Amino acid sequence: MPDKSNQRDSFTESGMRTVLFVDDEVSILHEIQKLFSDDAIVRLLVASGGEEALEIIRTEDVWLVVSDSHMPGISGIELLERIRHISPTTGRILMTANADLKTAIDAINISEAFRFIIKPWDNNELQFIVHEGLQRAEVVRELAHSEEGAINSIAQAIELKDPCTRGHCDRVAEYAAALAMRIGLSEGKIIHVKYGGWLHDCGKIGVPGSVLNFPGRLDEPSLKIIHKHPLWGAELARQASLPTKVVNMILYHHEKYDGSGYPYGLKGEEIALEARIVTIADVFDCLRTRRPYRAAYTSDQVREIMQEMSESYFDPHLMELFQATAEEVLEEDARRAATHHRDVVG
Ligand SMILES: [Fe+2]
Repeated sequence: MPDKSNQRDSFTESGMRTVLFVDDEVSILHEIQKLFSDDAIVRLLVASGGEEALEIIRTEDVWLVVSDSHMPGISGIELLERIRHISPTTGRILMTANADLKTAIDAINISEAFRFIIKPWDNNELQFIVHEGLQRAEVVRELAHSEEGAINSIAQAIELKDPCTRGHCDRVAEYAAALAMRIGLSEGKIIHVKYGGWLHDCGKIGVPGSVLNFPGRLDEPSLKIIHKHPLWGAELARQASLPTKVVNMILYHHEKYDGSGYPYGLKGEEIALEARIVTIADVFDCLRTRRPYRAAYTSDQVREIMQEMSESYFDPHLMELFQATAEEVLEEDARRAATHHRDVVG
């Protein structure tokens, strides 16, 4: 693979990100060039076919590629699939005039494109999708080049989108690692559990702030968006080549032991062990902290709710092992609440 490190630095400094559009119709490429000519972030490259696009991918540091589907020679799906192997952190979008189901399925399964754009496109929407794609590509790149400290800072950056959850990822990682230690996982696995704790909600980067911070119960369409965050997050982690265990924690942290969770409705031990661990840590921390739609629960309420949930939501064996960690935290919360109450009352 060519050494693109110098290019990466220079584009990061100038704030420009390279986006490659591929289409065999020259008039379309002209329209796209016009559309992005004043864009402060996008450095646009175009190619009129698959071979030319692959040449660019091999020599340039391309953040995002948007390819037409039907082209002579290499098809859009094949092109994106080859790009996935040559440059895994390049974001991939397929554009097509024919919105047939097979093309959409192939785009997702074969080329792992994260978006599908139907021609003719809406200019505003296309600009939005490209910017969103660059944001995702940035997260993927950081994850792919990350060590522990960097993974943590990415989690914190994502958390900024959701001010109510400040510190949440750190605490989930801490509680999950404590539980992993208690069940005797190896040191390497405990580190992965910690990463999963930090990154479990990284898919929230794709959820609009207005939905994340909505101060009430969400309606059905908003819930549908929220319910996508495990899938979006897992996709990011996969693109960044993070270990499978970390991907599992992101993907399955909203599955419930009784099969009533999402995104797949997995049951019991169908849910990966590391995900069952993170789920307990995640729910526990959510209950003891304020959310946009409710205040934090008291220590007694948290105990009661966790107990109720241990019959449906959690792996009962893991829940038993988590009791000691939970008690330490809740006793500290109760002490802090009592001190606060004394200060306020006088
Ligand atoms: Fe989540």
